[in-house]
Amino acid sequence: MRLFFALWPSAAVSAGLDEAGKRLHGVCDGRRTRMETIHLTLAFLGEVGPERIDDLLALAGEIRVPAFGFNLTRFGWWPHNRIVWAAPDETPAELTLLVDALRESLLGAGFRFDTKPFVPHVTLLRKADCRKKQLPAGEVGWRVEDFVLVRSVPGESGSAYEVLGRWPLL
Ligand code: 2AM
Repeated sequence: MRLFFALWPSAAVSAGLDEAGKRLHGVCDGRRTRMETIHLTLAFLGEVGPERIDDLLALAGEIRVPAFGFNLTRFGWWPHNRIVWAAPDETPAELTLLVDALRESLLGAGFRFDTKPFVPHVTLLRKADCRKKQLPAGEVGWRVEDFVLVRSVPGESGSAYEVLGRWPLL
């Protein structure tokens, strides 16, 4: 199973990000992330055998990090993968704590995951081209009360996502 840990926004936050995605699409074209699949990845595990799911659920249940809020105020484009993203102006300390705690637990339990430095972002468009374009400004506030473990199932109209577990922040 292809798995990752993520922050999953409320319907209101998803709607705000979806609006931002529409505006950006008008400028950069590409393929919009469907509103119901908008998320922020915390740790990408890739393929995990079903026999290891219980270990993942257990380690996630041990994470103790305070709830927090942040504003997504930066919108940008990465030419190398043609993604248009939304990001916080600064990474909240609690978000760093959460990612560090997850990574440490995953390492301790022998899981492999993408170890690239954490760059918090919400992908809004793929296959976009914003060269020489001025991106519209915006601001979307997000209150984070929990995190999730998600299974990604690739499909013809983009991936479908199934939430396997949800854990509250403190
Ligand atoms: P992206 O939006 O920047 O592509 C599901 O694929 C989620 O995991 C996406 O949010 C994706 O980020 C993220 N992810 C992080 N590392 C990944 C990797 N090495 N391969 C695929 N997806 C990755």
